[in-house]
Amino acid sequence: MASEKISSNLFWVGSHDPHLRRFDIVMETKYGSTYNSYIFESNGEYALIDGSKLGFEEEWLGNIKEVVAIEKISTMVVQHTEPDHSSAIAELLKINPNIQIYGSPLAMANLREIVNHPFNAHVIKDGEKITIGDDTLEFIVAPNLHWPDTIFTYIEKQKYLFTCDFFGAHICVEPMALSAIAQKKEYAESFKVYFDAIMSPFKPFVRVGLAKIRNLKIDYILNSHGPYLDSPEAIRNAQNLYQKWAEQPVRLRKKVTMVYCSNYGYTKLIAEAMAEAIKEYDVEFKMYDIVESATSDMVADIEDADGILFGSPTIVADVIRPVYDLMNELNPFVMMNKIAGAFGSYGWSGEAVGNLLTRAKQLKMKTIDDGFKVRLNPTADDLVKAKAYAANFVNGLY
Ligand code: FEO
Repeated sequence: MASEKISSNLFWVGSHDPHLRRFDIVMETKYGSTYNSYIFESNGEYALIDGSKLGFEEEWLGNIKEVVAIEKISTMVVQHTEPDHSSAIAELLKINPNIQIYGSPLAMANLREIVNHPFNAHVIKDGEKITIGDDTLEFIVAPNLHWPDTIFTYIEKQKYLFTCDFFGAHICVEPMALSAIAQKKEYAESFKVYFDAIMSPFKPFVRVGLAKIRNLKIDYILNSHGPYLDSPEAIRNAQNLYQKWAEQPVRLRKKVTMVYCSNYGYTKLIAEAMAEAIKEYDVEFKMYDIVESATSDMVADIEDADGILFGSPTIVADVIRPVYDLMNELNPFVMMNKIAGAFGSYGWSGEAVGNLLTRAKQLKMKTIDDGFKVRLNPTADDLVKAKAYAANFVNGLY
């Protein structure tokens, strides 16, 4: 598959991965992906922006060579070092070890650990500019989009904005211009799935990233996965969708979400008693029996909550699996500093409650007590204590 000319001084030289079915191990990529890389030329000078993945270096380097001899490239910008964009750079350096590589401090540190060989590294600062021929490349620090190392690169005179993962989509297409692809429906689906999987844990950073580029004049958004955006409508649409998806809902009341499983109904009795107590407070409250509920609904209400109560009986000395499965859907970046509580009935030794809190701490949540557990069938007195536990939990949110 060949390089593509985007305009008189800009070329797509990335690689196609049509058979990719999982990204980052867990994200389904049913339409494959691309690892986009670009060459910008100005007055005989060449800059390469973004790299490719090891295993795809033959196509990547071959596409570069269609545009310019690799030895003639003076500059490379590494906007983000996740290995899908950086692991093939070592192969490039074998051909052109003199290339000057620019990136954030963390990107340069990461790249050292990926290339495992000396290279000419230049650490950039936010707003720093470098000259390529008659043009200026400006670096915009945009952390956590999708790693802390991420930067954007803007060429004001040409109205080119390079955004790496930001505004990407896992879909393998050819040609690479969004306006030219036939798979518009699949692209729209991929764009949303990609945002949910890659960007949504970093919504505050998405909002900052959008604000940083809001006033830029942009004719092309040159991302690193899927088609690049080449029309004012596509660029406006992408920005509007990201803005909408990254919105922080304004909530005037605290929110508690309870998720639980029950085997013989004992843990459910505790859950219901706690729910009764919580409803006495002026808080928003959502409650789910995990085995009867959609994971996406539960995750949405957990991520939106200030405090989460996890309930599980102890079965064979541990939390029951559906509760762990749900907790494994949660991202520490999103869960950080939310308050966790735990409860459950047990028959033998009652490890589940402690294990729930341990998992919550691994998710970087805060705990305010040791949880609440009852041996087998809760008595009326136990349910009074469950209510007191829940009341204390709600008070702990303030
Ligand atoms: Fe496409 Fe975060 O790498």
